[in-house]
Formats: sequence, C-alpha cells, structure tokens
Amino acid sequence: MAPALIESNADAVAEQTFQKDKNQGSYKEAFSQSSATTNYDTEINGSDTVEPAKYPNYLPSRNGSQLIVVKDWDDVTYPPYEPFDAYEHGRDADPSFPNLLKEGVEVKDITANIGAEVHGVQLSKLNRAGQDELALFAAQKKLVAFRNQDFASLPIQEALDFAEYYGPSHIHQTSGAPKGFPRVHLVHRSANDTTSKDFFEERTNSITWHTDVSFEMQPPGTTFLYVLDVPKAGGDTLFGNMAVAYQRLSPEFKKRLHGLKAVHSGHEQAQASIARGSVVRRTPVSNVHPIVRTHPATGEKALYVNPQFTRRIVGFKKEESDYLLKFLFDHIALSADLQARVKWEAGTVVVWDNRVTAHSAILDWQDGQRRHLARLTPRAERPFETPFEEK
Ligand SMILES: [Fe+2]
Repeated sequence: MAPALIESNADAVAEQTFQKDKNQGSYKEAFSQSSATTNYDTEINGSDTVEPAKYPNYLPSRNGSQLIVVKDWDDVTYPPYEPFDAYEHGRDADPSFPNLLKEGVEVKDITANIGAEVHGVQLSKLNRAGQDELALFAAQKKLVAFRNQDFASLPIQEALDFAEYYGPSHIHQTSGAPKGFPRVHLVHRSANDTTSKDFFEERTNSITWHTDVSFEMQPPGTTFLYVLDVPKAGGDTLFGNMAVAYQRLSPEFKKRLHGLKAVHSGHEQAQASIARGSVVRRTPVSNVHPIVRTHPATGEKALYVNPQFTRRIVGFKKEESDYLLKFLFDHIALSADLQARVKWEAGTVVVWDNRVTAHSAILDWQDGQRRHLARLTPRAERPFETPFEEK
C-alpha cells in the first residue's frame, strides 16, 4: 500500500503548489512581512542571544494599541487614490547645488553609471532650496547614499514632514506601519526570522527587480529609505539606472518602444497578502503607463517596466507582449554594468528617484539577524513620455 500513500502525498503537494502559484501569479514574494515569522516579544525585549530592536517606535503596529498582539496586521483600510497635481521640486533647483553640496561635503560616485555616496550633509537640516537641490541631485545620480544621518532618531512626524515636501505619502496596500504613522512603509524582518530559509526552499534567488508600486496611477518619485537595524553582513540593496538601460537600446528599437504602454498590476501583491492571512488596505488597482517615461526635471527618458508589476503591453497579443517584456526584463536584470549595490550601515539614508531606477532587495543573510528599515514614499506625477527624437 505504500505506493498509494506516496502518491496521495504527492497529490497534496501538487495542489498546495498550484494554489500558491495561483495566488502569487508572476509576483515574486521574497520580502513580504508575516505575523507567523515575527516574534514581537523578542523584538521589544531582546533575548539571551539577540539585542532588542534599536528603534521600537518603528516596529509595525498590530491591532489595537499594543505592540505585542499575536494577531495579524491592523485591519484599517483606505479609499482609492484620487488624481492630484504633482509638483516637481527638482525643477526649481540650482544645478550647482550650493545649499546641498556645501564646501567640505564629500561626494563619491559608487559606479560610473549610477549612484553616489555622500558624507558631510545632514538632510534634516536642509532648507527648502537644499531640498529642491536634493530632488535634482537624486534624479541625476539616480540613487544617493547619505551617511551619518539623524533621520532614524527624529520624531517620526519630523521625518515624514521632510519627505512630504516632495508629495503626499503613499500608503502601502499590504505592508505594516509604525503605530500612528500609516504613511511610513516598513521593511522588517525580525530576529530569528526564518523567511530566508523558507524562501530558498522554493526559489533559486531572491532578486526582485521593480520600481515601487508602479501599479498606482501616480507612483512615487523622490523616495527615502533609512536603516534602523541591519544584519552584520548582507541585506544590501541593488539599484539599476533605467535611463542608461534605455540609452543602451538601438535607435530603431527605441523608435518601436515609443508610444507603447503597458499594464501594471497591484492585484497579485494584494492576492498574495490575502493568501498568507494578511490584509489589503485599499482596493487593488491596475494602471497603464508608457514603457518609456520622461523625467519632469531632467527631461531624461527611462525604461519603465518591471517584472514585479508590469503584465501586458497594450495592443499586443499575449505572446507578443510576453516576448518583448521578457527581453526588457532580462535587459534590466542582466545589466550589472548599469547597477550599484548599496551597503547599509547605521545612519544611512538612501534617496533614489523611483521614476528612473529599478531596485531589488537581496535576501542573503541566513542566520536570523534582524533587518529593519523605514521608507518614506512621496507620490509624484502620472508617468508621461515626451515625443520621440531621432538622434
Ligand atoms: Fe522596493
């Protein structure tokens, strides 16, 4: 009778696998937060083997007023987003950056094609002109790692006020947030978390190239991510320059991409959240965006598709769409010669322009160390493309 037992186990596994794939679709869920893998007691109090979280005020809140509630995320929901007029502060910036890059500030390019590391600026002390310059500088460099910042120690409201100069915050449809601050997006893997081990039982790598929430009608522009707790090694973030990715294409290919639009979907992310017993805070949406978008301050064009959220090219048959998107996704993923890898250290704030970059987290720390970051996510204009110019 043994063979029948083996077969029925295999059938059960097959059904589970089918359901899981169905729930996730083509959304690669490498970093979703899970109540099942978070030990709040250890996060707040520490244990014999781990320190408590350095910034408990940034731990994701749970139902009710207490942090230690072994239940799922807060069940608050939000209405659909309405269109709004975005204002691009990078347009007002002095391109010589007199307020941002004062004498004594050290700027070091991370690679030739993307990224800068900056020492000697305290972002929270910038005046408005400095903030305008920051938007332009981030658009030009694509990502900037500012070291020795005080963001994490500020009252959360102050950090939010700084970021919301650039636009109204995005509230994520599935992620946790600190108590009282739903507009702060958390990236939190608690100490002793087993996500990595579990993840690699099913996947060969954790690379998930995307631009944040591109399924929204007005996705984020200038975006901030700052570190609270990081593993001793690992947990870096990859960034790619999507303007250079576009420039690498031939004139004929660029001409063909001009005018094409693609569907970006948030449905699979929401569905995956429901499937793991978590919440969706807003009715999921899809939106159509140009495959090539123009930056409102620099005029630069950039590829704007990503494998996490871009599903279908409008007007193409499915096989045609899959074929072209696969090329573009591979182009983005394989072009290590237009990418940089940010190493997090205490006090780091990374500012990137979400309109002209793609990024991926790296799930490579495997011994249950805590990784805890906060993202401030001002929304920007609806993506647009300016006329094609032969060069
Ligand atoms: Fe992201």
